[in-house]
Amino acid sequence: MQDIFIAGTDTAAATMIWVMSFLMKNPKCLKKAQVEVRDLVGEKGFVNEDDVQGLIYLKAVIKETFRLQPVAPLLLPRETRRKCSIGGYEVPAKTLVYVNAWAIGREPEAWENPQDFCPERLIGSSIDYKGLNFELIPFGAGRRVCPGMHMGVAEVELGLANLLYKFDWEMPNGMNREDLDFDAVNGLTTHKKNAVAEVELGLANLLYKFDWEMPNGMNREDLDFDAVNVLTTHKKNALILQAKKIND
Ligand code: HEM
Repeated sequence: MQDIFIAGTDTAAATMIWVMSFLMKNPKCLKKAQVEVRDLVGEKGFVNEDDVQGLIYLKAVIKETFRLQPVAPLLLPRETRRKCSIGGYEVPAKTLVYVNAWAIGREPEAWENPQDFCPERLIGSSIDYKGLNFELIPFGAGRRVCPGMHMGVAEVELGLANLLYKFDWEMPNGMNREDLDFDAVNGLTTHKKNAVAEVELGLANLLYKFDWEMPNGMNREDLDFDAVNVLTTHKKNALILQAKKIND
């Protein structure tokens, strides 16, 4: 059960942070993604799952992020069941195999200008991340392919679409886009090393927009700081606050 929670939350959270980092670094792409979602959703006030299906550019942005920064860069390890020959190499039985999805996503034979962040390359392209196009395998492929792929993508798309719709994203005072780094912390999933400016931005906007109060029937004294220690330390019990929107 814990495996499913880790595989399903850490990955999606790390993906969102990488997408936001790429968009901050590429303001034209940020603008395009923002205009797309705001045009589509209009004055409705929020983006739902149906709206997301129309966000062609945002989907390409997410795919391009998966290509450049797959959050599980070496997938899950495999073991060969019998001796085989691949590309002229003899591989004995019981060999532990790591597939480098990160390097495949940046392979010049498969991708033109592979280091460039260019979501446009994926619009109208038949290349998808479902495990059938081996040049893009952020969810793996074959029998061990990620069983939570659709849920993961839905979380990332919906979360990002709402953040793009509701907020203008800016660098904090005194920081430039050029200062944004793409250093990663490698665990099982690859997280961005240095706290991204959007965390500050997100908190600043949440503080600006809402008064934070305890839900009815709960006191500050009931708040706990229990932690779950796995690869990253997450808060154990959900932080429940009541959000009161104070301005638009
Ligand atoms: C953006 C989100 C996600 C990404 C990038 C991702 C990526 C991956 C990758 C690369 C693998 C290894 C596949 C392979 O080696 O071929 C994997 C496995 C797995 N994922 Fe995901 N995943 C995501 C979301 C989820 C979600 C939402 C769930 C469940 C709710 C989930 C559950 C699992 C499980 C249980 C495995 C292990 C499968 C096995 O043991 O063979 N993942 N995931």
